Amino acid sequence: MTPEHAEEILAIYQLGIDEGNATFETTAPTWTEFDTAKLPDHRYVAVDETGKVLGWVAVAPVSTRRAYAGVVEHSLYVHPAARGQGIGTALLRHLITSTEAAGIWTIQSGIFPENTASLALHQNLGFRIIGTRERIAQHQGVWRDVTLLERRSPAIHESAPPTQPTSR
Ligand SMILES: CC(C)(COP(=O)(O)OP(=O)(O)OC[C@H]1O[C@@H](n2cnc3c(N)ncnc32)[C@H](O)[C@@H]1OP(=O)(O)O)[C@@H](O)C(=O)NCCC(=O)NCCS
Repeated sequence: MTPEHAEEILAIYQLGIDEGNATFETTAPTWTEFDTAKLPDHRYVAVDETGKVLGWVAVAPVSTRRAYAGVVEHSLYVHPAARGQGIGTALLRHLITSTEAAGIWTIQSGIFPENTASLALHQNLGFRIIGTRERIAQHQGVWRDVTLLERRSPAIHESAPPTQPTSR
């Protein structure tokens, strides 16, 4: 993912937002906001043979506390015209590999229960459902549930964390 992809990434983001089952957000961020929020080492696009962006994945830290340095939350969006072809799976698989290689031990996500495609995709790749937070917040004036999922890296979790945490 490079700044040249910015316009297409944000357009795909907005298309997903507009469908109403991806996020509480109603407007895609600016590129500066996106770029600031997402970790530079774990952001990827899927492109076709002409270089057109078909989908993207990126992560943000969940906390600034050192103990949580290996816990991230991801976003995954595939262009509506490119769905059902395994692109979301390929992007998420790539993210799992890259985060594990960097010592990140947990990827988490909050998914609307109505987003059956996303729930299936994540469970296929080893994410487990932690639980559902009922009517946790409003989206377009409607109270929505959010199902929390996480994937704990089996490789990393069995060894010691890379840093010794200090409580804050
Ligand atoms: C969720 C999303 C990323 C899936 O991307 P995709 O490229 O279509 O996914 P894939 O083709 O890799 O499909 C992976 C699995 O998801 C499931 N799936 C895909 N489309 C589905 C659908 N319409 N209904 C139910 N399950 C579906 C299937 O289990 C599929 O695996 P299978 O083909 O082996 O059966 C895509 O629908 C999207 O961008 N949605 C809008 C944004 C969003 O909701 N992002 C996630 C926020 S948590």
